[in-house]
Amino acid sequence: MAAVRFLLFFIFCFLPLSLSVSEIEALLKLKQSFTHGDALRSWVPNSSPCSGKWEGVICFDGIITGLHLTGLGLGGNIDVDAVVELHGLRTISFVNNSFSGPIPDFHRLGALKSLLLTGNQFSGNIPKDYFSHITSLKKVWLSYNRLNGTIPDSVTELSHLIELHLEKNEFTGRIPPINISSLKQLDMSNNMLEGEIPKSLSIFAADTFAGNEGLCGKPLDKVCTEKENGTLTTNENKHSNTTMLVLLFLGTIVFLFIFFAFGTYAKDRKGKDFDVLGSEVTSNAEMVEMRMPSSNRSGARDYSSRKGDTKKGSSHGNNGMTDLIMLNVDNGTFGLPDLMKASAEVLGNGGLGSAYKAVMANGLSVVVKRMREVNMLQREGFDAEMKRFGRLRHQNILTPLAYHFRREEKLLVSEFIPKGSLLYILHGDRGTSHADLNWPTRLKIIQGIARGMGFLHTVFPSYDLPHGNLKSSNVFLRDDYEPLLNDYGFNSLTATPIAAQALFAYKSPDYIQFQRVSTKSDVYCLGIIILEILTGKFPSHYVSNGKGGADVVQWVLMAMSEKRVHEVLDPEIVSNTSSVNHMVQLLNIGVTCIETNPKQRIDMGEAIRRIEEIQT
Ligand SMILES: *[C@@H]1O[C@H](CO)[C@@H](O)[C@H](O)[C@H]1NC(C)=O
Ligand SMILES: *[C@@H]1O[C@H](CO)[C@@H](O)[C@H](O)[C@H]1NC(C)=O
Ligand SMILES: *[C@@H]1O[C@H](CO)[C@@H](O)[C@H](O)[C@H]1NC(C)=O
Ligand SMILES: *[C@@H]1O[C@H](CO)[C@@H](O)[C@H](O)[C@H]1NC(C)=O
Repeated sequence: MAAVRFLLFFIFCFLPLSLSVSEIEALLKLKQSFTHGDALRSWVPNSSPCSGKWEGVICFDGIITGLHLTGLGLGGNIDVDAVVELHGLRTISFVNNSFSGPIPDFHRLGALKSLLLTGNQFSGNIPKDYFSHITSLKKVWLSYNRLNGTIPDSVTELSHLIELHLEKNEFTGRIPPINISSLKQLDMSNNMLEGEIPKSLSIFAADTFAGNEGLCGKPLDKVCTEKENGTLTTNENKHSNTTMLVLLFLGTIVFLFIFFAFGTYAKDRKGKDFDVLGSEVTSNAEMVEMRMPSSNRSGARDYSSRKGDTKKGSSHGNNGMTDLIMLNVDNGTFGLPDLMKASAEVLGNGGLGSAYKAVMANGLSVVVKRMREVNMLQREGFDAEMKRFGRLRHQNILTPLAYHFRREEKLLVSEFIPKGSLLYILHGDRGTSHADLNWPTRLKIIQGIARGMGFLHTVFPSYDLPHGNLKSSNVFLRDDYEPLLNDYGFNSLTATPIAAQALFAYKSPDYIQFQRVSTKSDVYCLGIIILEILTGKFPSHYVSNGKGGADVVQWVLMAMSEKRVHEVLDPEIVSNTSSVNHMVQLLNIGVTCIETNPKQRIDMGEAIRRIEEIQT
């Protein structure tokens, strides 16, 4: 049985369309979650979803990029776990079906561009931070459903949004301050919205807002009065007003209770200014807001006054500027206030915390990484370590620009690299940017990564894991494809249980089988990235449950044992015979790097020496 499964897996891996078996399984699982799925008769196990025969499956270059299941009478609970397995998915349409219940967790699909759910029976409210996780959305159609509650504020974070259709639902409350320059189509008609229409939306036609009794302000003829504008408004909503009053009353009681019960605790906690960042939603507005308390209540502390005060911290000193420690002024200096004023965008959640992109007033774009989990060291230790990182200068190392330390909050600020990560370039928008990823470029990337690793192993000779988290999402590419290593050196800053969760080196056999990591674990990670770059496949090792992507290790080893190794090379780089020989030579180095037993695995120096010898 296992053998058959493996064979199947193998066959699917070699489909010219490069679909992994998990994607086919995912689609079949998804189909199972539908009621009245007979419209999907064409979805059958022994054919390829990208053959053009599978109803509604849209592929580009052999990657499933869209599910367009429009008007098929489908119902049931959409299996989002299955949808998440489709890594290339960018557009989803379930328009005109019979789905009901709450809006599915499509916010787990971080790279989605179109979400079209018009014409179903979806009901209930949309979670507040729903859109914070899918800021890549360009089209959002939720019209003709039964959604209620307020329109979530996180919709303001969709900076690429072009179409927003919310008409014919039961949305209540005010319209969030949407100010998105790309927005071309907007429809909020026939809901139960109220209050003043945001100025930035007054350029849209009046029928955009028609059928909402409580709305006022341009472009509608109805002028806002204090009464209409207040939270507790118009007669039409008397019922909900009473509800709101009750809720407010209850809310106040709960608040007072919490206030008194936890007063001491609250007093102990310092620096509320950054607490807002603690919620996963970080809208620009909130970032600006949280600046206010810090300057008013002296929440931000002066670094020097806190030096050596690691246990309790003190709450005096109030220059927010000094709370950010500059490490590297190559790109100029800035302070926490500049960051707070910057427009922010959520980039995603990594193992150690979430990352935000911030564009400051002076035009400098930075990535702010919150490292909530990095809390092994007290202030001095952390300072010393950051200073060490700040001194690193190597063409393949991304040196951090600044950091911020408080017991309950650590931020690391580094330069934003516009081209993005190797993960994104290699597996993201396939079809657009891939032409440049030819063999010489890929060799350059691998050699650059190797040099960066060599440098880290030289400057941190005493560390078990000089890098510790090498994987394609932590390698950025400059415009000339010179790689930059990021997210290194965190092992010594992080408690082992957390490191084991968050750092890729702990996913090596060294930890899984032998319960210890060493510099050889970095070699293993290097091996995986070599296989990833040469095969063009997303390694399943990067996903915590091993689902999704391809088991590149098994696949390459199998092909090698059968002397068909050239077949695993990404078809996009395969050209003349002599290059292919060099690719195979490099693949062999990759394979020696992933040798299971760390004792028998080559060391970093040897790996780098061999990688440097490869020619294009
Ligand atoms: C959905 O159904 C409505 C009403 O039947 C129709 O007007 C609309 O064109 C349909 N939308 C799509 C995308 O098929
Ligand atoms: C919103 O819809 C859900 C599901 O239909 C319902 O249970 C809930 O009471 C509604 N909330 C409001 C405020 O109408
Ligand atoms: C909308 O944003 C633009 C720049 O992004 C700004 O100039 C404009 O004042 C904003 N409009 C409103 C009403 O906030
Ligand atoms: C309505 O309220 C908003 C915010 O609560 C305020 O900015 C606006 O000036 C008010 N407009 C009127 C006409 O009262």
